[in-house]
Amino acid sequence: MSGRIPEDHHGRDRHDAGNVPGANAGAASTGAIDPLEAMADYCEAKGIWLHVDGAYGGFAVICDEGKQALRGIERADSIGLDAHKWFFQPYQAGCLLVKDVSTLEKAFAFRHDVLQDTIWGANHPNMSDRGLQLSRSFGALKVWMSIQTFGMAAFREAVARGMQFAVRAQEYVGESSVMELLNPSSLGIVCFRINPAEQEVDEKDLEEVNKTVLARMFWEDRAFITSTSLNGKSSLRLCILNHTTTWNDVQEALESIERYGIDALASTRK
Ligand SMILES: Cc1ncc(COP(=O)(O)O)c(C=O)c1O
Repeated sequence: MSGRIPEDHHGRDRHDAGNVPGANAGAASTGAIDPLEAMADYCEAKGIWLHVDGAYGGFAVICDEGKQALRGIERADSIGLDAHKWFFQPYQAGCLLVKDVSTLEKAFAFRHDVLQDTIWGANHPNMSDRGLQLSRSFGALKVWMSIQTFGMAAFREAVARGMQFAVRAQEYVGESSVMELLNPSSLGIVCFRINPAEQEVDEKDLEEVNKTVLARMFWEDRAFITSTSLNGKSSLRLCILNHTTTWNDVQEALESIERYGIDALASTRK
């Protein structure tokens, strides 16, 4: 990501900063987290704007495990967050947090005669001065109402549970004789594939086997898992973020994957 940033809140001119680095607080494929503290140190020393992509993983900070994993995120200049991901909201509820809101206003605020009656002073911001949209719906209402209804404790528990289940899923994969861990659990995501330790299977066949497993999981309605590609290897991707998911659901999904994997491996030998 790159862009021009107006003068920052320390009074330094950042126009010449050039590229704006984006740090991952939960990469889409793996949930991987960039070294946020180190990036914040570097950006601070060089006067560079630090943007953190927390679209997927940012809300993990609401629980202790997530706060620990995302240490340093609070030092970002801006953070993108999707409440329609790990904050359990209906589409769409994307948002942007900025340390200094005047940076948005410098970029987006405009005056038009027909809007003159909307200027009510400092405690009455017009959200249109902070982004591209002029007419907009009250997107934050559903987020606020769901917190009022269920309480933050329910959100914290649901996020923490997803992270804990992913750790347990990683352990399950580690103990399986037919599964290979491709990326350890991070923020509720674990990546692995069918690849038996005791059997030599070439990469092309492994790809077919794993595609077959994914298709069977979908068509036999076992669980909705997805796939990704990691260093050229096709990977199954378990992303555990539904608040109704139980460990039993995760375990059943893993057992089905193993069973379908064994079937698919048998057909490659024919
Ligand atoms: C890490 C990350 N960043 C950005 C996005 C894009 O978010 P959106 O689809 O809400 O624009 C996603 C997923 O969609 C994501 O996982």
